[in-house]
Amino acid sequence: MLNKISKTNRVKIALIGYGKMGQEIDALCRDSRDFEIVSINYKNINDKLDLKSIAKADVAIDFTSKDVVLKNIEEVAKLGVNLVVGTTGWSGDLEIVRKIIKKYKIGLVYSPNFSVGVNIFFKIIDFSAKLLSRFPDYDVYGLEIHHKTKLDSPSGTALKIADKIKGLNFTSVRAGRNPGFHEVVFDSNADGITLSHQAYNRVGFAKGALVAAEFIKNKKGIHAFEDLFKI
Ligand SMILES: NC(=O)c1ccc[n+]([C@@H]2O[C@H](COP(=O)([O-])OP(=O)(O)OC[C@H]3O[C@@H](n4cnc5c(N)ncnc54)[C@H](OP(=O)(O)O)[C@@H]3O)[C@@H](O)[C@H]2O)c1
Repeated sequence: MLNKISKTNRVKIALIGYGKMGQEIDALCRDSRDFEIVSINYKNINDKLDLKSIAKADVAIDFTSKDVVLKNIEEVAKLGVNLVVGTTGWSGDLEIVRKIIKKYKIGLVYSPNFSVGVNIFFKIIDFSAKLLSRFPDYDVYGLEIHHKTKLDSPSGTALKIADKIKGLNFTSVRAGRNPGFHEVVFDSNADGITLSHQAYNRVGFAKGALVAAEFIKNKKGIHAFEDLFKI
């Protein structure tokens, strides 16, 4: 999917946030003829958004923090530039974001997890939850593990999975370097079913964010990345 776009049709990207994820996306774009970085923002937390260079982008990709993401979305929307939002911890503000997108008539894709593998995992969980709801012998529990610098807990991905399964709570571990592990266990007296997803690095999230950028380049409205995986 990442090699499909013709050279003349490069997607111009503005990076908002230049931490672990911003740098991962930058590295992928520099190796690709399909994406071009035209703006990098917040190399330092005290920097301001460079609105002039963001205006040159087809899509701005935000991986910052919940403290600044809403302000970023509004500033970018005012420029008429579409957005991919990977920052987590703002799901309670979805209605506010919906209004911004409508007001400025732009396109936005959001997800707590842009990994293609996790979005397939979501579908497997949807199916399992539906099936297992018919068998009350099974209890369900969740575990998620992330590196010690991850600020939100439980993760946005865990919250999304918990939305899908009644009565599911996650135990969250923040330690070490794990880029992301999520596990759901259905357990009965007779047996147990364990579903898990392990990210090996951040490349999957970065690739997914670029797939989303390609998708939203010429579209309007708000889209969950998960909706691209409908079967
Ligand atoms: N959706 C997904 O697939 C996915 C995957 C991984 C991570 N995430 C989420 O994406 C976000 C970023 O993750 P990351 O691992 O890249 O984090 P990170 O390494 O801490 O990078 C965050 C970036 O945003 C900047 N920033 C943070 N707060 C800011 C503020 N108040 N004003 C201006 N700039 C600010 C940081 O600047 P400084 O470096 O100067 O602090 C840094 O450039 C988090 O919410 C994380 O949970 C989502």
